Amino acid sequence: MKFVVDQQVEDIELPENLKLNTFLKEFHSDCSHPQCGFGFYGFAFGQSPFPVPNSIQEALIKNVHKGSYAPVPGIPELRDAISEYNKYYFRIDADPQRIYVGPGTKELIFNLLEILHGTVILPTPAWLGYLPQIRFLKKNYHMLPSRANGKFSSHDLRKLALRLHDRQKILILNNPHNPTGLVYDRLELEEIADVCREQGIIIISDEIYAQTTYDFSQFVSMGKIYPEGTFVTNGLSKSHAAGGYRLGYVIFPQHAVDVRRQFKKILATEYTAVSTPIQHAAVAGFEISPEIDEYFETTRNIHHLIGDYTYHALSEIEGIKATKPEATFYLLADFNTFATELQRSKISTSQKLSESLMVHPYHTAIVGGDSLVLERNDYRARIAFIDYDGAEVYRNYQNQKPKTHSEKLEFVKTNAPRVVSGIKMIGTFFDNLKRNAGIKIETQETLMHVTI
Ligand SMILES: Cc1ncc(COP(=O)(O)O)c(C=O)c1O
Repeated sequence: MKFVVDQQVEDIELPENLKLNTFLKEFHSDCSHPQCGFGFYGFAFGQSPFPVPNSIQEALIKNVHKGSYAPVPGIPELRDAISEYNKYYFRIDADPQRIYVGPGTKELIFNLLEILHGTVILPTPAWLGYLPQIRFLKKNYHMLPSRANGKFSSHDLRKLALRLHDRQKILILNNPHNPTGLVYDRLELEEIADVCREQGIIIISDEIYAQTTYDFSQFVSMGKIYPEGTFVTNGLSKSHAAGGYRLGYVIFPQHAVDVRRQFKKILATEYTAVSTPIQHAAVAGFEISPEIDEYFETTRNIHHLIGDYTYHALSEIEGIKATKPEATFYLLADFNTFATELQRSKISTSQKLSESLMVHPYHTAIVGGDSLVLERNDYRARIAFIDYDGAEVYRNYQNQKPKTHSEKLEFVKTNAPRVVSGIKMIGTFFDNLKRNAGIKIETQETLMHVTI
């Protein structure tokens, strides 16, 4: 029997994070050094390392028996809790009617792109999830490259929008930003909003990392600045370390009643509703409580500590630059000063660079630039500084919060030794590259059959 898959599906590629997953799984058996036994320094995955908060786990257990379908936009208790949560943390006053729940923000962003007319404006570098969706939906899109400070400017946004003739344009704003870890401040958001009002641009504001902002008082939601034109998406995945629960939400713009009605049709057609027990568990995650508040504070402080360390350790390696993260658990490292040496070693793309860093003895997994919607020969890469035991580090932080600079350094060295050694290993790789020694190009051949 020969099955024929629709051409539209044939034409899209597996999203880069899933390719990477396959690649890393296959890697062990592919290492050309059988006694090696070493896994890899895991700087590639975008997953919070902490345990899911207890209150969510308990609520899930308590609600496992709930087997009936939930209402399409979500159970009322959850929409109420999300509304209160947004008031409390983000000062967004959104009636629960404006909140729809979905199986992860990835799906909700896809659904929004499905129903909203217009050319998509995608600032780059970008999270690796957007582009396959835009391509799959065959939407027109334009990249909006960031400036040297790692952010796009409202000036460039206006210039691009003036060239587009759709009635409506859709900007995908990701704030805080994956992969740079940067945060757009209020003034920058106001400037962007001004251009959007003037140029007929609506915004999908992906704020999945909002709670990880190290100085939380600095985070401002675009839903607050441009409430009439912004769809805010957020969820459990990063703030509550529960990506596997698949629970996200969207807050619709004020007065977008018809869009909500249309959206409901799409959700009902595609997945009916999010799993009922998961929705009940999520209520516990969005309820305001001292436990959850402490969880956010502790986890963001740990991200901050390890982010600062990673930034400084990388920047101290001659030739490497990096964005200084203000949120998330990522930064963007820039290896372009090594372009000549990399080309000379036949590492002609950033993808090849990440493959080369994976081979023995480096064993370091990062996400190369073309997976981040950068040019193939742009040697920038995302480093996710999460290679440590989240449960243990959480406990250790609570037992003894490091205060001084040296206590913080000691904390990272003791609690995240793989981050420390992995960053050193990146330094070793570039040292060897400069000396043109030890970069075994031939071992890349072994990797070529892997679908990366
Ligand atoms: C910027 C960004 N948006 C959305 C997502 C997906 O979130 P969810 O698990 O809610 O689908 C991720 C996950 O890595 C992300 O980094």
